Amino acid sequence: MSDKGMGTRLVHVGAASRAYDVHVGAGTLDELGSIVHKTGNGRTCVITETNVGPLYANAVENSLREASIDVAERLTFPAGEPSKNLAVLGGLLEGLAERELTRDDAVIALGGGVTGDIAGLAAALYLRGIRVIQVPTSLLAMVDSSVGGKTAVDLAAGKNLVGAFWQPSAVVADVRCLASVPRSLFVDSCGEVIKHAVLADAALLDELTERPLSSSASDEERLARVVTRNVEIKRDVVAADEREHGARQTLNLGHTIGHAIEAASDFTLGHGSCVAAGLCMMARAAAHKGWCTGETSARIVRCVAAHGLPTGSDLPADLLLHYMAHDKKRHGDSVNIVVPAEIGRAEVRRVSLGELRELVALGREGDE
Ligand code: GLY
Repeated sequence: MSDKGMGTRLVHVGAASRAYDVHVGAGTLDELGSIVHKTGNGRTCVITETNVGPLYANAVENSLREASIDVAERLTFPAGEPSKNLAVLGGLLEGLAERELTRDDAVIALGGGVTGDIAGLAAALYLRGIRVIQVPTSLLAMVDSSVGGKTAVDLAAGKNLVGAFWQPSAVVADVRCLASVPRSLFVDSCGEVIKHAVLADAALLDELTERPLSSSASDEERLARVVTRNVEIKRDVVAADEREHGARQTLNLGHTIGHAIEAASDFTLGHGSCVAAGLCMMARAAAHKGWCTGETSARIVRCVAAHGLPTGSDLPADLLLHYMAHDKKRHGDSVNIVVPAEIGRAEVRRVSLGELRELVALGREGDE
């Protein structure tokens, strides 16, 4: 990480398929035009949704025009996960074609995780791939989904079942955008921040436990530092294993049980909250199995509780097992789970569905 004037921090991601920079700071949207200019010549088209577009799209397009970049008419889709489907994706691709974007041109994905996923996939598919610049406006998108090149839409059969690895040409994260994120959504995203701290940064976990993250404007400098550190943690994993054959699986910490809780709640519980609950349950189970110490598990649970996130789930084990058995990451009759070995180090273990049932039972609350 290096400082880049006016407090903007730069993280270089050396992914195998493409290297790029993530720019994190307060007021970074003003620099967007010059950042995009450095990624190539050509026109741009902003893809955004109905909540975020009215807040930031004009500022983004003005910054592009100030850098002498031609801006095509923006594409806006209805906000929310239900839009992450093949029909909306098709509409975006037709829109890019109607605007006659060419292979020299670029998509600007402006919004949270849904926008990054669907606009990133549109960029990956259109003309077999054009540049995409990710401009995340939610905490989840800043610390996780905008970095690493995963793009996708959902099918009726499940989330993110159609997608591509398509790395962005740059990521521009302006923490000032977080002031407009509803508090409940901001807190929910802290589940992924805590996951990253458990994976790679014990000091960050302790700091977050003592002083939970807040989106207050007076905390901008801290937010930029914490977002940057999260991007560095994710960068290190993605650079080692872009396609999730090995190390990248550790980013699924908390997700095996978390995804099952999310699906069983019919997606009424936020993704980050489900990851937090899944993380705590896996940590408790790991402590019972002797894969980590009780203190490691307790430190994780303390940090999750300090943020007001759920530390477990009362959903029946059979229901969770049903969803885990249908997880897209299943291998035959077994599943790769990620276990905290200590704070700062996670391990991937392959377990049978029967062992997974035992882990869910061991992960229940009340035994701290
Ligand atoms: N969110 C997990 C990953 O990008 O691999």
